[in-house]
Amino acid sequence: MSRTIIKRIVRRSLKGYHSPYRDPFRYLSMRQTGRKRFIAAMRTILSGTLSGDFNPRAPHSELRLLEHLAGKALDRGLWQLAYVGRHLAGMVLAQRRPSRPNEGTLFFLGISPAFRGRSYGKILHAKGLELLAHAGCLRYLGGTDIRNKPMLQTFRANGCRAAGTWACDAQTGKRLRRARNRHFQIIHACH
Ligand SMILES: CC(C)(COP(=O)(O)OP(=O)(O)OC[C@H]1O[C@@H](n2cnc3c(N)ncnc32)[C@H](O)[C@@H]1OP(=O)(O)O)[C@@H](O)C(=O)NCCC(=O)NCCS
Repeated sequence: MSRTIIKRIVRRSLKGYHSPYRDPFRYLSMRQTGRKRFIAAMRTILSGTLSGDFNPRAPHSELRLLEHLAGKALDRGLWQLAYVGRHLAGMVLAQRRPSRPNEGTLFFLGISPAFRGRSYGKILHAKGLELLAHAGCLRYLGGTDIRNKPMLQTFRANGCRAAGTWACDAQTGKRLRRARNRHFQIIHACH
């Protein structure tokens, strides 16, 4: 049976965006590492997530779904792992929206449990925004489960403004709208 989660949606302009932080990370893209390392990374980074639209026990399916949603707009150079020395610290999947190339989103952002609580999330989020800006995106549309307070705080720290609340299918992350028959219909992807 499908589950519904509530997501807070945020926006910000990316015109001339540069990260304001001193970035401690070394990055490797999926183009450089291949996808196996991303599946392993997702397994680690999804642990303890407060977002109900990601299943920490199924990193393989989660990555496959995101690749499917990206379709032809997938740029493996924009999907990156962040390292501190040799240790995996985080992951950011920057994605131009297939239907609106001027707009970008982060399909996923996460910090490894060992590195959480140090505000690294906002540095990695800013890196994602910068990747999108360099790829030609003028606007950012993001979203997270309303229960994910650290992620909401990360959006706030990086100047994102609230742009609504969406009911989404927990499995696919797609936006739902209550139809006349009171069932939900998919109207928009918001991963
Ligand atoms: C979301 C995530 C990236 C944030 O990483 P982080 O930088 O380590 O987060 P922090 O613990 O430093 O918290 C960030 C901010 O939220 C605040 N915060 C943390 N927990 C909070 C809570 N329960 N309630 C309110 N605020 C909270 C912190 O005080 C901090 O604020 P500050 O920067 O003003 O000091 C990280 O928790 C994560 O990777 N989670 C698992 C994956 C995930 O859920 N990704 C998002 C999917 S959309």
